[in-house]
Amino acid sequence: MAHNQSADAQRLYDGRSATYDDSWHVRFARHMVEIASLQPGQKVLDLACGTGLVTFPAVDAVGSSGTVIGVDISSGMLAQAEKKLESQPSVRNVAFYQHSITDLDTLEVLKQRKGTFDLITCASALVLLPEPREAIKEWTSYLKPGGKLITDVTHVQSQLTGITYERVGRKLGVNIPWYRLNFETPEDFRDALAYAGLKDVVVKPIAQLAIEGTNDLKDYLAAGARSRLEKEYSIEDADKIFEATADGVAEGGLGKAEIREQAKKLFKEVWAKIADADGRVRGIDCVYVGVGTKP
Ligand SMILES: C[S@@+](CC[C@H](N)C(=O)[O-])C[C@H]1O[C@@H](n2cnc3c(N)ncnc32)[C@H](O)[C@@H]1O
Repeated sequence: MAHNQSADAQRLYDGRSATYDDSWHVRFARHMVEIASLQPGQKVLDLACGTGLVTFPAVDAVGSSGTVIGVDISSGMLAQAEKKLESQPSVRNVAFYQHSITDLDTLEVLKQRKGTFDLITCASALVLLPEPREAIKEWTSYLKPGGKLITDVTHVQSQLTGITYERVGRKLGVNIPWYRLNFETPEDFRDALAYAGLKDVVVKPIAQLAIEGTNDLKDYLAAGARSRLEKEYSIEDADKIFEATADGVAEGGLGKAEIREQAKKLFKEVWAKIADADGRVRGIDCVYVGVGTKP
C-alpha cells in the first residue's frame, strides 16, 4: 500500500482550506479547548492545527502570558490561519509552522521545547495517521510532567460511507487517506494513549456533528452533547451511495472503470455486514475524546 500520508493530507486539505470553516469543526474545536480547561500562562502545542480552530480559542484561554504553537502540513490551511492572525495584530503569542506531525523531532523550533508543554491538542486528525500510536508517543515527549494531551477518534459507526471505503480499500490494496480502522473500539484508543505512557486516561463519547439549525457550542452543550443515532440506512442503500460517491474517493481510484465493479461489489458486501439482524444500517454521530496526563 504505497503512499505518502503527509503529501495526501496536504493535497486534500489544501483543496478544502477555503471552505473548511463552514462546518461543525468550528464548534467541535471550541469544545475540545473547553474540555482541556486551559489556564492563563500555559504553553500549548496544537497539532494538525489547520485553519486555527483550536489554536485561536487556546490563545484566548492562555492569555498574553501563555503561548501557542500550531503545526500543520497543509499550506492552504495554514494560510487561512495566518490570515486570521493578521486580522488580530495585538495577538503575538502564537506561531504556525508547516511540518508533519508524525515527525516533530525534525522541526527546529521545537528542539528546545521537549518536555515543556502544558497541553498538546490534536483535533479531528489522529485518524488521518497510519501509525497513530507511534505519533502519540512522540508527541508525549513534548509534554512537561503533569501536562495533558487531548485528541479524538471517530466511532466506527459514524460517517459510514468513509469507513466502508476504508475497508474496501484495504481489501483491494487501494490507499484511502484515513485510518479509522486503527480504532475499532474505544479500548483501542485508550490503549494508544496508554502506550504513549499517558496516565489517568479518560475516553468519553460525544456527538460530533452540529445539532439541527445551529453550530453554537452553548446550544450543543445544552442539548447534552451526547452521541446519538444520526441516520438509519437499509442494506439496499449501498448501491446508490457507491454510485454517488465512488468517483470522489482515493482520487477517483475506486471509480475507475477497471476496478469499479469489483469495488462496488465489495462496498455492498461490507455495507451488508454492518447491518443489524433487521437489515438496518445505523449511522451514529459519535466521536471519542481522550485525555491523558504525562506522569
Ligand atoms: C480535519 S482537519 C483538523 C484541523 C483542526 N485541528 C480543527 O480541529 O479544525 C485535519 C488537519 O490535519 C492536517 N494533517 C493531516 N496529516 C498531517 C500530518 N501528517 N502532519 C501535519 N498535519 C496533518 C491536515 O492538513 C488538516 O489541516
